[in-house]
Amino acid sequence: MDSRKTLIANLPKAELHMHIEGSLEPELMFSLAQRNGVELPYASVEEIRQAYRFDCLQDFLDVYYQGMSVLQTERDFFDLTWAYLEHCRTDNVTHVEIFFDPQGHTDRGIPFATAFEGIASALEKGEAELGISSRIIMCFLRHLDEESAFETLRQAEPFLDRIAGVGLDSSEKGHPPTKFQRVFERARELGLKIVAHAGEEGPPGYVWEALDALGVHRIDHGNRALEDEALVARIVAEQIPLTVCPQSNLRLAVVKDMADHPIRKMLALGIKATVNSDDPAYFGGYVNDNFNALVDALDLPEDEIITLVRNSFEAAFLPEEVKQQHLARLEAAVEQHATH
Ligand code: HPA
Ligand code: ZN
Repeated sequence: MDSRKTLIANLPKAELHMHIEGSLEPELMFSLAQRNGVELPYASVEEIRQAYRFDCLQDFLDVYYQGMSVLQTERDFFDLTWAYLEHCRTDNVTHVEIFFDPQGHTDRGIPFATAFEGIASALEKGEAELGISSRIIMCFLRHLDEESAFETLRQAEPFLDRIAGVGLDSSEKGHPPTKFQRVFERARELGLKIVAHAGEEGPPGYVWEALDALGVHRIDHGNRALEDEALVARIVAEQIPLTVCPQSNLRLAVVKDMADHPIRKMLALGIKATVNSDDPAYFGGYVNDNFNALVDALDLPEDEIITLVRNSFEAAFLPEEVKQQHLARLEAAVEQHATH
């Protein structure tokens, strides 16, 4: 095997952009549908996989919201999250910051607490039994209105000691960050970290807005920031991390070909980029698959692999001391690779 793929497999990594509902594999979707008596428009696991052909973000989102309908009980959310953590163990992902979409559940009558406690209890077990540290970021759905986001923030109040931050996801075009300026201001007052999807399909102006109107600590995706030199200069000067998702970008036609993926360019410009899976069950793979795809298509060299992984811990919402522990383990694995 390419020694770079061995390196990727052996390095401890952090994943910072992964929607837990997007880790719902067809097999689990099917078995939860049966367990809960939910009707799916698919007759088999194969048919579900066949439906995963997308021309754009909205194509995917339609299938993604449909898929979540099988998630009904706290145990379902636990099983979903635990299955993801098992992939983390396989991939040597030692820290995760996962997104969840409360409105995707509350809007179909599932209480906030049901989804939250299922996810949180699996993450707690993952920390205790697998040594995987974690944070939860709740996202507002940008196709809904700001009042609905405020209502979600109110529902989250009893759980805020276990929520690290808020994000913004779903259909980007036509739903600029400024639409949510007030609710993000309230989230900042509550001491929450701030992220937002921006510049995936939307224009560079949405990335500016995420920075200026929302006060983001990281940008999710951010690909289209590269179209604006002044914006790149700002992102580099402030070292705003970008959580980049290569296989997602390919499957949602954000890039035409993996060989066109801008991640090496981002690094060359001085951008703190990281590699993430976004919705691994829908886009063809988990974190290591994403790194391996970059090795295959872009000949991603060893030093850039290490930089991307280092960035993943540096960009994490962890106390400095915990971050340093993760980074020390990373440097030890790098050292070990060099001497073998
Ligand atoms: N973009 C926007 N919303 C999402 C995504 C994404 O890639 N994945 C899940 N919700
Ligand atoms: Zn995403």
